Amino acid sequence: MNLRFRLNLIVTIILFVIVLLGAMTTVHNARENVRAEVDSTMDLALHMLEAELNHFKRTGLMSADEDMSLFNLGRLSGVRHLRIEFYDSHGFLVETNQVDDAHDENDPPSWFVSQMQAGLDNMTLKSLPVSINNREIGKLVISPEPGNEISEAWHETKTMLELIALFFVSVNVVVYIAVGLSLKPIDNIIDALTDIEAGHLDRRLPVFNLPEMASISHKFNGMASALQISTRNNHRLTQQIIRLQEAERKTIAHELHDEIGQHLTAIHVDASVIKSCQDLACAKRSAVAIDEVARQVMDIIRTMLHRLRPGGLDEIGFLAAVQDLVNNWQQRHKNIEVLTYIEGDFSDLDENEQLTLYRVLQECLTNISRHANAKLVEISLLESGKERLLIVKDDGQGFELGRHPQRFGLAGMHERVDSIGGKLNITSQYQQGVTVQVTLAKQGE
Ligand SMILES: Nc1ncnc2c1ncn2[C@@H]1O[C@H](COP(=O)(O)OP(=O)(O)O)[C@@H](O)[C@H]1O
Ligand SMILES: [Mg+2]
Repeated sequence: MNLRFRLNLIVTIILFVIVLLGAMTTVHNARENVRAEVDSTMDLALHMLEAELNHFKRTGLMSADEDMSLFNLGRLSGVRHLRIEFYDSHGFLVETNQVDDAHDENDPPSWFVSQMQAGLDNMTLKSLPVSINNREIGKLVISPEPGNEISEAWHETKTMLELIALFFVSVNVVVYIAVGLSLKPIDNIIDALTDIEAGHLDRRLPVFNLPEMASISHKFNGMASALQISTRNNHRLTQQIIRLQEAERKTIAHELHDEIGQHLTAIHVDASVIKSCQDLACAKRSAVAIDEVARQVMDIIRTMLHRLRPGGLDEIGFLAAVQDLVNNWQQRHKNIEVLTYIEGDFSDLDENEQLTLYRVLQECLTNISRHANAKLVEISLLESGKERLLIVKDDGQGFELGRHPQRFGLAGMHERVDSIGGKLNITSQYQQGVTVQVTLAKQGE
């Protein structure tokens, strides 16, 4: 069952209960009114008839011989709400004020009549004995005849019920339309999500009128932009990685060809000389030359290996490798003061974490030598509570974050740190240097 239908159903049920109570109250009030009206009219009629009887008795205008239709009750046919009848002493009906009414098509419906009658059921008849010269000649009986009153009450109640029904229908229609209008943005949101899912990351939502929906569309658009930027960065990064990989391969191929190839040729030549040597001295000379070239080849291979994978991480351990990196850098930048603070145990860093911290530090030092123009560099490796921190701070010229396009260096740092679930935070202010901080959660925390 969709939301629109559900909301409408709830409103309809609540309204229905209210309207039903309203209708019941209206009918109840009508019944009370009819009852009060009939009761007071009966009382009034009784008193009038009593007064008239007394008057006749006193003036002696009434005698037993007179025509029995002495009240001429037919005259009172206009007295609505009441049946006034005269019964003789034998209980026969002599006179009545009732005339047969034509059936009116505006008569109240039978359910309404029975509701009204229910209020009159326990009303007692009123009777007035009529006697002449102390002889009882019969009695006048007054009973409720609420037909007219009920008709009147029906007309009023009908109008009320019609208004209630109109209210019921119009509130329902208004709610249906309002709910439909306020839920319309949801269709838009679903469409937009489907587009994003299909890879159309440039899809945006319009600004909706409803504040709640407007805030959803604002957040959605922000999310879509972030996704678009990050996907674009990812593509760019992948391209850069591929380019760098190719460049690295090219360099290795060159070095293998130019350096190793050339040295191997030299060894080959010297070995050939040894083969054709007549005396030991000649062979020794060539052997010394081979030894010299072999050492150079070993140096070249060591340098190449070091570039491919930081030497020492495996052999001498993380902290010693870091210290090595810093010392080598310091050797090349004697005019910059380097302070190193190492506090804590870093022995349980896994291989990825070690490599990440090492590479970030390496890139920071490269950036400092290329861009910072710094006098002091502070490198801290700290343990703080459940975290490990690497902080590299320089006092150089700094740069405006977000202004410089992030190139492979900074972007690569982000990627590396992200990939092991850490946090990278770079702060910089013009002329106040740069601080790079990596935060890693401790294993098992
Ligand atoms: N320590 C630093 N001091 C001043 N500027 C820096 C520093 N580190 C980075 N930058 C600025 O940020 C830019 C992006 O750095 P990076 O992504 O490493 O690319 P690259 O080093 O190849 O230029 C640099 O070009 C430089 O302008
Ligand atoms: Mg760089």
